[in-house]
Amino acid sequence: MSTAKKTPPILCISSGKGGVGKTTFSVNLATALAQKGIKTLLIDGDLGLGNVDVVLGLQVNHTIRETVEDGRDPASILFEVDTNFFVLPASSGVPEMAGLSHEGQLLLTTVLEKILPDFDLVLVDTAAGIGDSVLWFNQWASTNIIIITPDPTSLTDGYALMKVLASRHGKKGFKLVVNNVKSKAEGLNTFTNMAAVLQQFLQVTPSYLGPLPNDSKVTQAIRKQKPFLLAAPDCPAAKAIREIASQLLEQSRP
Ligand SMILES: Nc1ncnc2c1ncn2[C@@H]1O[C@H](COP(=O)(O)OP(=O)(O)O)[C@@H](O)[C@H]1O
Ligand SMILES: [Mg+2]
Repeated sequence: MSTAKKTPPILCISSGKGGVGKTTFSVNLATALAQKGIKTLLIDGDLGLGNVDVVLGLQVNHTIRETVEDGRDPASILFEVDTNFFVLPASSGVPEMAGLSHEGQLLLTTVLEKILPDFDLVLVDTAAGIGDSVLWFNQWASTNIIIITPDPTSLTDGYALMKVLASRHGKKGFKLVVNNVKSKAEGLNTFTNMAAVLQQFLQVTPSYLGPLPNDSKVTQAIRKQKPFLLAAPDCPAAKAIREIASQLLEQSRP
C-alpha cells in the first residue's frame, strides 16, 4: 500500500469545543490504520498547543515550527512511532504558531505537500475553536471529521464550526463521530438530532462514522501515554475505533 505517489486522502479531525477527544481519537485511529497496513501520517495541527507527542509519550526534538520559521525539511521532523505510523509534531506554548499568518500557512502547506506522497493517508488533529488554523486545515483536507459528544456545549460548538465551514468555505461532506456515549443508542440519537439541524439550517447531510463509548481504559491509557488500542486492545473503545477505521478505508480507498 505504501507505493502510492499521488497526494493521499487528508482527513481533518475537529470539534469546535476542546476536550471532546480529538487527540485521543486521532492517535488511536492512526494506530488502527497502521495496523491495517496503511502508511499513516498524523500531523499535529494544534500548532500552538500541540500534544500528540505527549499523548503518545514521544521525546521529540523538532517541531513544525522549525519548518515554518527556519525552513527545516519536514521529512527531518517526522517521528516514526511504529510501523506505518508517523507523526509530525507541533510546538506547545507558542502563540505565534497558533495564529500563523496567511504566508506562514501557505508556506506550511507547500512544504507539507512535498512529503505527503510518501503516505497512504494523512490525518490532521486540529486545535479547538473556529480560529484560522482550524478553518484552514479543514479547507485543505479532502475529508472533514467532526467529533461531538452528547454534551450540549459540544453540540452547539460543533454546529458552529460546521456552519462556518459550510457557509464560508463550501464544505458540505461532514463525517461525524459521537464520543463519550453510554450506549450505541445514545450515539445514534445524538447524530440524528445533529443531522436534522444541519439539514434544516444549512442544507447539509452529514454521514455517521459511529459512536465511541465512554471507557475507563481510555483515561488509563492516556496516563500511560499509550494509544488505548495498544494498552487495552479488547476494550470497547478499541473495538469502536477499529470499526471506524474500516469504514473510513472503505469510503476513502487510499
Ligand atoms: N471515549 C472516552 N472515554 C473516556 N475518556 C475519554 C474518551 N475520549 C476522551 N476522553 C478523555 O477526555 C480527555 C480529553 O481528550 P483529548 O483527546 O485531549 O481532547 P481534545 O483533543 O478534543 O482536546 C482525555 O484526556 C481523556 O481522558
Ligand atoms: Mg487535542
